[in-house]
Amino acid sequence: MKKKKIAVLASGRGSNLQVIMDAIDAGYIETGEIRVVISDNRDAFALERARRNGIEHLWIDPSVYDTRREYDHAVAGELEKRQTDLVVLAGFMRILSPDFVRRFYGRIINIHPSLIPSFCGEGYYGGRVHRAVLDYGVRVSGATVHFVDEGTDTGPIILQQVVEVKQDDTVESLAERVLEVEHRLLPEAVKLFCQDRLRIEGRKVYISGDGAR
Ligand code: GAR
Repeated sequence: MKKKKIAVLASGRGSNLQVIMDAIDAGYIETGEIRVVISDNRDAFALERARRNGIEHLWIDPSVYDTRREYDHAVAGELEKRQTDLVVLAGFMRILSPDFVRRFYGRIINIHPSLIPSFCGEGYYGGRVHRAVLDYGVRVSGATVHFVDEGTDTGPIILQQVVEVKQDDTVESLAERVLEVEHRLLPEAVKLFCQDRLRIEGRKVYISGDGAR
C-alpha cells in the first residue's frame, strides 16, 4: 500500500505529534509518513520535536495575514505543495475556516480532550476543557478523535475512550490521565486512516477490517 503523506498542525508542546512520530518509527503505523509539521506559534515545542526527528517544519505567522481565511489559504497551499493525504490537528489552537475544511473534508482529523459532544466547541481547548469538566461535577470525561467539519468539534467521531474523574482531581491531574488516552487513540486513528479503513457515512464513521469496533 502506498504511504499516506501526513501533515501535522500543532500550536504547543506537541506530545501528540511525538506519539505519531514514535508510532511511525516503531512500525505501528506502516503506511504513513509525516511530510511536514506546521505551527502558528514560533515557540511551539512541536517545531523543535519535528526538527529533532528530521521532519520539515514551518512556522506560518498569523499576524502577517488580515483574515483567518487568508491564513488558512496559506496553510492549505503548503499542504497541497506536499500532496498531503491526511491533516492531523494535534493541539492546533485555531478554528479552521469553512473554505479550508471543504478543501480537505474527510482528510482532517482532530484530537479533543473530552467526550464530544460534552465540553467542546468554541472556547473549549486545553486546560479550559478540564476546568469545565471539574466545575460541572461529571464522573467521567475522556478523549475523542474525530473528522473535522465546518463546525467546532462537531465532525464524525472516529474513536473515543472514557477516563474516570476522581473527586480530588485537579486540572493538571485530569489532563495527565486524559493525555495518556489521547496518546493511544490518536496513533490508532492515524493508523486506521492510513490503512484506508475509515469510511464516513453522514455523521457516522465505519471502521473496517480485523477487530473493527
Ligand atoms: C491535547 O490535550 C489536545 O487534546 C488539546 O490540546 C492538547 C495538546 O497537547 N487540544 C484541544 O484542546 C483542541 N480543542 P500536545 O501539544 O502535547 O499534543
